[in-house]
Amino acid sequence: MDIVRDPQQFQQQALAARARGQVTALVPTMGFLHEGHASLIRWAAANAGRVCVSVFVNPTQFGPGEDLDAYPRNPEGDAALAEACGADVLFMPEPGALYAPDHCTWVEVPPLAQHLCGASRPVHFRGVATVVTMLLNLAQPDVAVFGQKDWQQLALLRRMVRDLHLPCRIEGRPIVREADGLALSSRNVYLGPAERAQAPGLHAGLLAAAALARAGQRDAATLKAAIAAHYAAHVPAGEVDYIEIVDPETVQPVATLAGAALAAVAVRLGRARLIDNELLQP
Ligand code: PAF
Repeated sequence: MDIVRDPQQFQQQALAARARGQVTALVPTMGFLHEGHASLIRWAAANAGRVCVSVFVNPTQFGPGEDLDAYPRNPEGDAALAEACGADVLFMPEPGALYAPDHCTWVEVPPLAQHLCGASRPVHFRGVATVVTMLLNLAQPDVAVFGQKDWQQLALLRRMVRDLHLPCRIEGRPIVREADGLALSSRNVYLGPAERAQAPGLHAGLLAAAALARAGQRDAATLKAAIAAHYAAHVPAGEVDYIEIVDPETVQPVATLAGAALAAVAVRLGRARLIDNELLQP
């Protein structure tokens, strides 16, 4: 596996691979890789001839007071895991290498960035869309692979790629969970033992709503109230940021389930802000 730090070198290699007719998959990450990322890299290795993994803690997707400086990092561990999962190239740019000091160009997808995480993290999705556009331009991938835990990010990037006619397919892969249901996340390291014990309750609340939807409940307010009641009982240390039922493609809130809908939640548990989601199939 090659480790490349220079963006121009990374792009030159990508253009040469494209000219050779090699199919490239890109797995963009912020590092501190875990089994969720591993599943994305393994999928990429099984579906593309050339696999690039990027590790870059993107400063522009963190707002003031968020955990940019504390964000966990493990470059050696990331390199070992990426290589073991089949990556051919690991792109690890220095923080200043992607953004010029006078950087002033942004990519925004406002309708998909307003709700859910966008409501409490106003600059987040502008930072994500901008850095992913840079990474797609540098890596020239045929397919870019993202986890479904960040469902809103996935929906927004799909729309961005469609609207800008970017020559790349976006592949979303299922959430990987601990045995007790907690969705894997680099931020799970922030959880203390008491918080970790309550954290599986996030998914359990979503599963309770999914069971109600299967049994015929179509009223979003009732489903949200069921999740909130579950959290009050089983995640008492949690501070709910949002509990929403949205259209899976547009991520706009729905009042009634006409077809499949997405239940999405964000809960602060100690220092961690955890997100999770579950498709509701009426
Ligand atoms: O999902 C993430 O890890 C990040 O938001 C991404 C897509 C790598 C952009 O920095």
